[in-house]
Order: sequence, then structure tokens, then C-alpha cells
Amino acid sequence: MSDDSLPAPAPARTAAVIPAAGRGVRLGPGAPKALRTLGGTPMLIHAVRALAASRAVSLVVVVAPPEGTAEVKSLLDAHALPERTDFLVVPGGDTRQESVRLGLQALPPQYDIVLVHDAARPLVPVDTVDTVIEAVRDGAPAVVPALPLADTVKEVAPAVEPGAPEPVVATLQRARLRAVQTPQGFDRATLVSAHETVTEDVTDDASMVEQLGLTVVVVPGHEEAFKVTRPLDLVLAEAVIARRRLNDGF
Ligand code: CTP
Ligand code: MG
Repeated sequence: MSDDSLPAPAPARTAAVIPAAGRGVRLGPGAPKALRTLGGTPMLIHAVRALAASRAVSLVVVVAPPEGTAEVKSLLDAHALPERTDFLVVPGGDTRQESVRLGLQALPPQYDIVLVHDAARPLVPVDTVDTVIEAVRDGAPAVVPALPLADTVKEVAPAVEPGAPEPVVATLQRARLRAVQTPQGFDRATLVSAHETVTEDVTDDASMVEQLGLTVVVVPGHEEAFKVTRPLDLVLAEAVIARRRLNDGF
């Protein structure tokens, strides 16, 4: 390199924000969902390992239940995690959206790409994580992994009286629908401005970017990136872990 040549631009750095502050009401009574164990290891640790498994991810921000922040810090200290990855723990808020916003606020300036990943999707394969990052690196402001649906989806109206059956008002064309997973990947500035602009309740981050009028793109999701939501999902997650252990020769 000659003296007057410019240094090569620094490669985009990628951080992951993991909202883990939910209670897990639909899972039933017990510890906050992210702290429940699967195969003997807390769900949150599985999720952190899944994201840190990507060589591109150099920081993981865990958004913890506010009363469980110290416990989450000690869990991260107690479990083996890759040395190349840094960790931060911040307390979460009352809604997922608020928790993600608090995680974003804790991000140091040098990260240009942000992944947002549900702690409740502990088994996402690293290939899915890398596919999302690659699409953001290729220039998409927002990327979601998604799968086609098995079930037909119908829109209903409220029942005329409590307990009465709900009338169907529309049937959506299944072939054009996708079930969206995480990690969702973003150009950092885009995600930050979406969180500053959109105030109504949303269930994912990409929909906020859609509201800015930007295009969100879909990449293939994975069956094992399912969200642990209801009790039966715990059975499925345990089965996936058992199969992986068998395949890895544990
Ligand atoms: N989440 C969060 N802060 C909240 C609510 C949710 O960080 N105030 C996180 C959850 O911890 C989870 C992710 O958002 O990792 C997806 O939410 P969901 O699956 O709905 O989890 P919970 O809200 O915990 O479950 P439930 O809705 O059944 O109570
Ligand atoms: Mg929830």
C-alpha cells in the first residue's frame, strides 16, 4: 500500500440483540420463558450460542427480564460461549418492541448490521443466521427468514356475542403467505429510525421497516427456528436436541 492510498473500508460489523424479557404466559406457570431449560441448558443460552455460532456476529446484547438481569449475567458467565464474541446484558421493558428498543440503545457505535432474534427460538441453525446476514450485506435494509404455511389462514370477525362462533370474513391465498421467523436482519440506521418512528404495537421488527415504506426481503427460514410458545413446543424442542446429540455422537 503506498503512503497516499486510502485504507480499505472497515467491513460491516454485526451485532445481535436477543429480546428475552418475556414471561412466557402461553407456556404456562413457571420461570420466565428464556430461563427454562431444554436438554438441561437454559433456552436463552441455546439462543445466544446459536447466534454466536456465526463468525460474523461479534457482539450479543441480551435483553433480560428486569428482575432477572443479574441471574442472566451469571448464566452467561457460567456457560461456555465463543471467545470471539462479546456480551452485554440490559434490562427489558413491558413489550417486545420496548425490549428491542432498549437493546438497540445499548449498542456501541461500531456495529452497522443488527440482527434481532427471539430468545424463544433457541434452535435456529447457524446457516439461517448467515443467510440473513449475507442478504443485509448485499444491500437489503431489512431481511426476514420465513417458511411457507402448512395450514390455510382465514380472517375472522369478532363473534356477535361472547361464546358464539366467529364468522369467517376472508380466506387468504396460502401460496402467497409466509410464516416469519427470526433472526431478522437490518441495516442499523434503518432499524433505529423505524423504532423512533413507529409507535403502534407490532409483533415483529420488519413490519416497522415496512411502515417506513422500505422493502423487506424474505430468505428461506428453517423448521428448527420455530418459536417455543406453547407446552407442546417444549416437547418438539427436546426432541430436536436429542436428535442433534445422537447425530453429534454425544
Ligand atoms: N419479549 C421481551 N420483552 C417483552 C415481551 C417479550 O423481550 N416484554 C421477548 C420474549 O422473551 C421472546 C420474544 O420477545 O424471546 C418473543 O416473544 P414471545 O414468544 O411472545 O414470548 P413471551 O412474550 O415471553 O410469551 P407470551 O407472549 O406467551 O407471554
Ligand atoms: Mg409475547
